[in-house]
Amino acid sequence: MTSVIVIGAQWGDEGKGKITDYLAGQADMVLRCQGGSNAGHTIVANGQKYALHLIPSGILNPDTACVVGNGVVLDLKVVLDEIEMLKAQGLSVKNLVISDKAHIIMPYHYIMDEYQESLKGDKKIGTTKRGIGPAYMDKTARQGIRLLDLLAWEPFLEKLEYNLREKNIIFECAGLPVISGEAKEQLIAEYAAYREQIMPYVGETVYLVNEALQARKKLLFEGAQGSLLDLDHGTYPYVTSSNTVAAGSCTGVGIGPTAINRVLGIAKAYCTRVGEGPFPTELIDDMGEKIRSLGGEFGVTTGRPRRVGWFDSVVVRYSALVNGMTDLCITKLDILDTLPEIKICTAYRCNGEIITRMPSTLEALAECTPVYETLPGWLCDTTECRMFRDLPVNAQKYILRLEELVGLPVSMVAVGAERDSTIVRREMF
Ligand code: GDP
Ligand code: IMO
Ligand code: MG
Repeated sequence: MTSVIVIGAQWGDEGKGKITDYLAGQADMVLRCQGGSNAGHTIVANGQKYALHLIPSGILNPDTACVVGNGVVLDLKVVLDEIEMLKAQGLSVKNLVISDKAHIIMPYHYIMDEYQESLKGDKKIGTTKRGIGPAYMDKTARQGIRLLDLLAWEPFLEKLEYNLREKNIIFECAGLPVISGEAKEQLIAEYAAYREQIMPYVGETVYLVNEALQARKKLLFEGAQGSLLDLDHGTYPYVTSSNTVAAGSCTGVGIGPTAINRVLGIAKAYCTRVGEGPFPTELIDDMGEKIRSLGGEFGVTTGRPRRVGWFDSVVVRYSALVNGMTDLCITKLDILDTLPEIKICTAYRCNGEIITRMPSTLEALAECTPVYETLPGWLCDTTECRMFRDLPVNAQKYILRLEELVGLPVSMVAVGAERDSTIVRREMF
């Protein structure tokens, strides 16, 4: 048995999709455990680019089972569109199973997301507006609608009735259109159609996953978002609404923590963030602009430009801690190929003191300025490198310094978006 969790070590978009797709070739099962279509995972393989939001990034391998776990909030339109897109490209989705316990994102969650953001004004989170927060709110309020309700139909109608009653009170107060009469009938008709289409993919997944573990299959858990967006451990309230850290993978599919062997943290060779919230190493200058353009740093889900900054080892060290990380993977090393100098944040200066730990309050974090170490660049192309020793010496030194600062082995390095642009120093399975 080998179970590997792939987790974002920064604020998301670290290249989890690419690495999951790469490792999926060795796995029997790939699982999404939390989040929803706020995630945008890119795979480049066989000359094609795929952007996946809900379907696990193992789907390109016809022999790999793909599971969407109970911890995911499911946008039925997005998942059905994704299934159609894959089928249109001649890919098989017959190995996809979605947990019947997954909660469904409803149209009113989108409206609530938009409305809550507008109420917050300049304190807005900068969500993806995919209804994620409101759907998890209904889940924790124990009024969410699950796939098993939709399949049974009567429970769906009953729960929808309650939820619409509640949401319509808010919409009325907010001067927003209520969902009643014809709008409600339309919504019911829409979900009746989704029910028919999604049914073949819905199943009981807890036993399926645990049986795979017992049969000593290789399981690959695909994290979504990043550790600093975790509801408990991230830069709250500028976070998402699920537990994005490794432990979330266990509750998100119904396995125990003892089943996990490795936790592979994915970190970019620099750092990005989309949406609002603290980002100590952010570059609001020409260098930031340059890295954004070199790295194509625009959101897969929303198209928003990503904020860009230097690698922050305080953040990744913290991330290593809250995830029980065993290995690191550094992605997008090639994006730094043309930079004469590269900075790494080693600590923060906070009210005259040097600190190496993440402060827990936003106020303290706002007082922090990064302490940088500058390393010489390598000024040559790394995209054809396939072994660590092929990398220019300065690139090797950069990786080894990150390894030292984070205190974990860098077991993988990515030097391009394509599946094969990957250097493996230590096998995961
Ligand atoms: P995810 O959300 O963590 O899966 O990451 P995204 O797909 O949102 O963003 C990562 C972007 O970087 C995608 O466009 C990937 O194709 C691309 N990418 C991943 N690894 C590398 C790499 O090593 N080099 C380059 N140039 N691009 C990469
Ligand atoms: P992947 O899986 C980057 C961010 C949003 C916002 C905050 C809350 O592709 O790495 P939400 O819509 O979840 O309520 O938004 O979280 N966010 C992401 N940022 N990558 C993601 O996913 C993200 N998913 C959510 O930008 O700041
Ligand atoms: Mg992404």
